[in-house]
Amino acid sequence: MFTTKTYTKDFKYFKEKYDENMERMFAAVSDLYAEYWNDFFHFALFKDENESWESAFRNTHKKYLEALRIKDASKVLEMACGRGGFTNVLAENTSGEVLGIDISRSQLSHTKRFKRPNLRFKHHDIMKVDELGETFDAAVFMDADCYLPDKKLAVEKISKVMNPGGRFLLLGWCKQSGLNSMQEELVLYPFMKYWGIPSLETPENYKKYFEQSGFKIVEITDLNNQVRRDWDFGYESALAGIKKLSFKDLPRLIWKGMRLGGDGIRLIKEQFPAAIYIKVGFDVGFLRYVYFLVEKK
Ligand SMILES: C[S@@+](CC[C@H](N)C(=O)[O-])C[C@H]1O[C@@H](n2cnc3c(N)ncnc32)[C@H](O)[C@@H]1O
Repeated sequence: MFTTKTYTKDFKYFKEKYDENMERMFAAVSDLYAEYWNDFFHFALFKDENESWESAFRNTHKKYLEALRIKDASKVLEMACGRGGFTNVLAENTSGEVLGIDISRSQLSHTKRFKRPNLRFKHHDIMKVDELGETFDAAVFMDADCYLPDKKLAVEKISKVMNPGGRFLLLGWCKQSGLNSMQEELVLYPFMKYWGIPSLETPENYKKYFEQSGFKIVEITDLNNQVRRDWDFGYESALAGIKKLSFKDLPRLIWKGMRLGGDGIRLIKEQFPAAIYIKVGFDVGFLRYVYFLVEKK
């Protein structure tokens, strides 16, 4: 029988070796997600059941660009930019300079598609964002906070690179506050284990970290109701994948820029139980998708 202790060793590795863990995980799953989910590894916000994915992504991005006051920003940062799709949208919508950083070279290998004079990408760790030697008027960080080894420290470091009045938008994967240890163990721990997540933060803690790090809160909104179709689609895609995929298909999906050995196949296979537990986490309300818009004082 699984117990909390079953997961301790994995969570310790995800925290202490988060950089290695992320490089390996996204080398294995980047193309799988692109094929079965989308080129953007973040959620679209839906108005209703009938809105198309294209329209939902377009409107979601428009909302984020406005929140970031992108037109007035001369320096813009996207953290965990992934395959670079939204970084390109940022650069398209400002005459300012845009930088995308990510810790995964496999993910960054797809950014070469995007060529604009005001757009740059860099292999860089968010936990060392203050070592970039640059400051920003707008910063965005979507669907990746859960992977960070220390969320409080990350917020402190992000604050250091924000110019006064600069906007920071975080789309966070949070856990509902007040869960008991059995609820966490049954639903969240398996999901975290299969997704390489060391810990999940509550929205309340993030609010505290922002306030303690010199940010003014502009808006905090729980978006679970607007992303139901994303969670459902993730689950349905996992089912479609399992019906179609076989062992011989998997090596094609793995990035060839690093040697993963048997881990590559294991990491891909683990996306299936992860999808199931994510669905459970959402249906039971323990997982929350939260919009945090803050401004540097
Ligand atoms: C689910 S993807 C989201 C990517 C992108 N934000 C998007 O919406 O398409 C998570 C990304 O976070 C990146 N990541 C995780 N930890 C990181 C860190 N410490 N520094 C930089 N990037 C990180 C991973 O490499 C991966 O590309």
